[in-house]
Amino acid sequence: MLFQNARIENAAPADFRIENGLFAGFGASLPPKPGEETVDLGGRLVLPPFIESHVHLDTCLTAGDPVWNLSGTLFEGIECWAKRKDKLTKQDIRERVQRAVRLYASHGVQFIRTHVDVTDPSLVAMEALLELREELRDTVELQVVAFPQEGILSYPNGKQLMKDAVRLGADAVGAIPHFEFTREYSVESLNFAMRLAADNGLLVDVHCDEIDDEASRGLETVAARALELELFDKVTASHTTAMHSYNNAYVTRLMRLLKMSRINFVSNPLVNTHLQGRMDAYPKRRGVTRVKELTEAGINVSFGHDDIFDPWYPMGTGNLRDVVFMGLHVCQMMGYEEIMGAYRFVTTNAARTLHLGERYGIAKGRPASFVVLDAGQYYDALNTNAVVLASYKNGKKIAQAAPASTKVLF
Ligand code: FE2
Repeated sequence: MLFQNARIENAAPADFRIENGLFAGFGASLPPKPGEETVDLGGRLVLPPFIESHVHLDTCLTAGDPVWNLSGTLFEGIECWAKRKDKLTKQDIRERVQRAVRLYASHGVQFIRTHVDVTDPSLVAMEALLELREELRDTVELQVVAFPQEGILSYPNGKQLMKDAVRLGADAVGAIPHFEFTREYSVESLNFAMRLAADNGLLVDVHCDEIDDEASRGLETVAARALELELFDKVTASHTTAMHSYNNAYVTRLMRLLKMSRINFVSNPLVNTHLQGRMDAYPKRRGVTRVKELTEAGINVSFGHDDIFDPWYPMGTGNLRDVVFMGLHVCQMMGYEEIMGAYRFVTTNAARTLHLGERYGIAKGRPASFVVLDAGQYYDALNTNAVVLASYKNGKKIAQAAPASTKVLF
C-alpha cells in the first residue's frame, strides 16, 4: 500500500509504502507497483501514533458518580472516590476502561501506560487491567503499573500487595513516597519498590513528590537508586511538582544526579494545574514541574493526562492535544520551534519512557503504525485542534474520522 504526499513529522511532502504490516520504504516520489492500492494524503501531517504515558484507567469516567467533587481539591477527590470505590467490580472497571480506550483510539492513541491502584486486598482492578491488556493487544497496547495509592509502608500489607501485583503480571512497579507517613517510610518504600523492579526485570514509574511542599525530596532518592541499581532509563519520575518549588541552588545540584541517572520524567499539565497551589494565597504556584529546564538539559520528558473525567479532574476526552496545549502554556514553551516539536511530548519522548524501542517510530522495517492529521504541520494541528483522520496500527486502520465542517452564514 502506497501513501503519497505525506508530511512526515513536519517534513516536506513525500511518499511511503507499507507491506506486511511494516514500513517498507520512503522516497520523494515512489511509483506505484502494478495493482498497488494508493492513498493520496494531500500534504497532510503524518506522525507516529500518540502515546498516553500517565493515566489512571481504573478511576476514569466516574466524575459525579455518586457525587461531584465541588471544591475540585485533591482531598475532596479522595472522599468522592472512597464512595465510588464501594461499587467497584471487575465488570464496572472493564466497561469503563473499554470506553476510555475507544475514546483514546479515536484521537490516534495506540499505547497507554496506566497506573492501577493495588492498595486493595482484592486486587480486582489489577486483574481487570491485566485481562484487558491481553484482549486489546492488537489495537491499543496497555502497560500496567502496580500503583500503591495509599502507600507501601503506610498501608496494611502494602509490601505483599506490591509483590502480588508483580506476580500477577504488572509491567512496572510504582510508589508514592510523598504520601507515606514519614520521610523514613518514603525512602524505604522507594528502596523496596526499585529493588522489586530490579529483581523482576520490570520498569519503574513513581508518583514522585506530587505536592507543593519544597521539602518533598523523593526525586533524589529515585535518581540515586536508578543509578546504583543500574536501572537508568527504565525508571520514570511522574509529576515531580515539588520541583516547581525547590530552591534553585538545590535544583542545580540535583540536575547533575538527574543527568547521571538517565531517568525519564512525566508531567501532567492539565491535572497538576488544576490541583496544585491549592494551599497558596496569592500569588499561587502553577505546580507543574520544570519541563523547560529538564528538556534543555537533555532529560527525557513526556506529557500525560493523569485523569480523565474522574473525582480528581472533571474534564478529559482522551485527546492528547489538550495535554500538549496546556503544557506549552504553563511551561512557557511557546517559541515557534517549541510548538512545532511539541508532538514529541506525546510521541517519541513517551516511547522512550515506555521503552517501546524498535517497535515504535516511522522508519523502514518498523511496524507501520502512524496517524494522519487534518493539518500540514504540527503548529496548525495544535492550534486548530486538527482531527486525527486515520490511525493505522501494524498496517491496519483502527480508527478514522471525517474533518468537521462549519459554515459561517454571513
Ligand atoms: Fe497519577
